[in-house]
Amino acid sequence: MPVNNIKGEIMKDPQNILFIVSESVPFAKSGGLADVAGALSGKLAEKGHRVTVVMPYYAGIPVELTRSPEPPFPMNVWMGNTEEWCLVHSKKIQKNLHYYFIDFQKYFFREGLYHDHAMHDYEDNPKRFAFLSQAALYLCKTKQIKPDIVHAHDWQTSAALAYLKTHHWDCPFLGGAAGVLTIHNIGYQGKYPRDAYEYLGFREKDFVPEIFEDHGGINLLKGGIHFADIVNTVSPSYANETLTPEYSHGLDPLLRKKGDRYIGILNGVDYAKWDPSCDTLIARTYHTRNMEGKKQCKAILQKKMDLYRQEQIPVIGIISRMAAQKGLHLLAKSIEAIVNNMQVQFAILGSGDKNLEDYYGSLPRKYPGLIGVHIGYDNVLAHAVEAGADLFLMPSLYEPCGLNQIYSLRYGTLPVVRATGGLDDTVEQYDESSGTGTGFKFYDATPRAIFDTVGWAVSTYYDRPKHYRAMQERAMKKDFSWEESTLRYEEAYRRAKEVKKTYDIKHTL
Ligand code: ADP
Ligand code: GLC
Repeated sequence: MPVNNIKGEIMKDPQNILFIVSESVPFAKSGGLADVAGALSGKLAEKGHRVTVVMPYYAGIPVELTRSPEPPFPMNVWMGNTEEWCLVHSKKIQKNLHYYFIDFQKYFFREGLYHDHAMHDYEDNPKRFAFLSQAALYLCKTKQIKPDIVHAHDWQTSAALAYLKTHHWDCPFLGGAAGVLTIHNIGYQGKYPRDAYEYLGFREKDFVPEIFEDHGGINLLKGGIHFADIVNTVSPSYANETLTPEYSHGLDPLLRKKGDRYIGILNGVDYAKWDPSCDTLIARTYHTRNMEGKKQCKAILQKKMDLYRQEQIPVIGIISRMAAQKGLHLLAKSIEAIVNNMQVQFAILGSGDKNLEDYYGSLPRKYPGLIGVHIGYDNVLAHAVEAGADLFLMPSLYEPCGLNQIYSLRYGTLPVVRATGGLDDTVEQYDESSGTGTGFKFYDATPRAIFDTVGWAVSTYYDRPKHYRAMQERAMKKDFSWEESTLRYEEAYRRAKEVKKTYDIKHTL
């Protein structure tokens, strides 16, 4: 049935989309997944689709964010032969966009999303997130939400696609939905010992290497890939890379088997939150025609990070999970050479791996005024780094998409990146002869390559200021908003429905 979208335009083919996700802004965030889930679901709703987002009610979600006139209601969920009871809170966020929070204290009332303070994964993670996945489908039955599309994200909600395809219990209309899986990071697959399998309630015959079995244990992402009608990842380059053993963490054969049902869709970014001309979290706004505000943001960043207040010295920003993926162990082997040999400063914000935290946390004492480090998670400081730095470094070993380099472009903070995945797709290489480009890319994952490329960027800043300024302006005008990517997801949903139809016909003949 045609519906009006937010602009009052008639939309011919609105879809009923069930988004099942383990984090989404503004409620809970550990990384880019939350930014994407929050922005994409909102954009789809704005276009006139009916979007239902189901996520956990974590202990850390501020109550005022979920406060709603709709009272919470109890719901039972069968996990294998175990019946569980949870509460469901709901909140209408905007027209066509409804969030449901699964309130199950046993699983979600904890400090961390996926691990404890010491970075140890919660042992019952497969049960926690399979429960979320199953609860989302039970919610459809309870509230009579008839999804056309079930959209799962990463290993956490992959189980939903298995449940969707293998049991429709007493809810036959769920059998009509097509399944889409977005892989935000193939490095995390949800691998756990087999003992949870019975509780998860998957079919015994699906515990095979093509589906859930992986070296005797369970691999949730694998099952999700198997059962999805369409699988996508978050940039075209990463889609290609993950078809090779070097990047796939063992799943390239399964992805190759998907053929043209595996695609790359570049993430967009939310410029309502990440744009220096309207960012409410930075000291002073600025735009291409007047960059005075950026100077002030730089001075404030230098102050916040205990850096020398020198306007002419370039500040290199880093905002990152401290994980092997991000290449910070490589930078650890070149950062001291960089500050010893170049006139630069670093403003580093991150948390994660203890060794990396300890190493980077020790640098301000060794290089006072030159390296500022904040270990922790701080969204306001993240905005301050984007706005106040001159260059932004991402030496990732792999990067499915990466959002910070895209934010950096908009803030005129030129990215220095390893040419991989989404970093390669979004940053254009600087050409010294013509002055074109929006950033600086390197290919080898080595401390030397980082040193050389930072050196190249720093020399451009000092010696070719006209090029640097023109690149800033070009970068700030780049548009990676969700418009285009949302169209790609709509196409993916259409294809998923076709694939499902063909599959259903084949299996009823
Ligand atoms: P990933 O999801 O792999 O961590 P992305 O670049 O896609 O990488 O997204 C990271 C998101 O998390 C960005 O919005 C970034 O600003 C934010 N972020 C990462 N670390 C921190 C931190 N320590 N404090 C605040 N924000 C952070
Ligand atoms: C993952 C990836 C990151 C991507 C984000 C959102 O966490 O590591 O590259 O931008 O998901 O899709």
